[in-house]
Amino acid sequence: MNIQFLGHSAFYIESEQVKLLIDPFLSGNPQAKTRADAFKELDYIFVTHGHGDHIGDTIEIAKRTGAVVVSNFEIVNYFSQFGIQCHPMHIGGRFSFDFGTVKMTPALHGSGIQMDSGMICGGSPGGFVIELEGQKIYHAGDTGLTMDMQLLVREAIDVALLPIGGNFTMDIEDALIAVDFIKPQSVIPMHYDTFEMIKADPQAFIDQLPQEVKGIILDVDGNFIL
Ligand code: NI
Ligand code: MN
Repeated sequence: MNIQFLGHSAFYIESEQVKLLIDPFLSGNPQAKTRADAFKELDYIFVTHGHGDHIGDTIEIAKRTGAVVVSNFEIVNYFSQFGIQCHPMHIGGRFSFDFGTVKMTPALHGSGIQMDSGMICGGSPGGFVIELEGQKIYHAGDTGLTMDMQLLVREAIDVALLPIGGNFTMDIEDALIAVDFIKPQSVIPMHYDTFEMIKADPQAFIDQLPQEVKGIILDVDGNFIL
């Protein structure tokens, strides 16, 4: 399969069976190079929480492609008014999709959905463990370091996508502890440098990883073949 980094926390993953997006924040993302309309055929969109830099272009892409949006119950309830197909999940739940299983994991963060009229409830923020072709990808969403991450060692994660930008999420120091908890084969840093408040040096993160963990810095639109 191919994992493409689209900037911030947005990823496009394509395997022989499925095409999916995670947190497709493209319009308004100063890092993004690919536009939302580049996605013509898509099966699923995973949304970790209700913040604008994660919901991003979900509604437009889902409407146009017919992709099924997977998110927590509250966000799915919000999306349902737009006439898009959704699959609600919640923290700790696992479901077998046609391509493999998905488990929703906890994240320590907020999830309010910003509307012109104020903030509406977006339930609890989360992350996803997505199984594809027998490999497991963990997208942490936005989160601080949690003790719960120790449970993820049992999932035998192949690739962990972890925020390192600090301020709203883990910084490099805490992301390194998360790696120690999760023990993934490989790790790709995300959620850094998009805005001034989340500046971080991904090379400094990679340099401090334990020897047995492969660190991968993806340029925007860069690919990692798994
Ligand atoms: Ni957030
Ligand atoms: Mn965010």
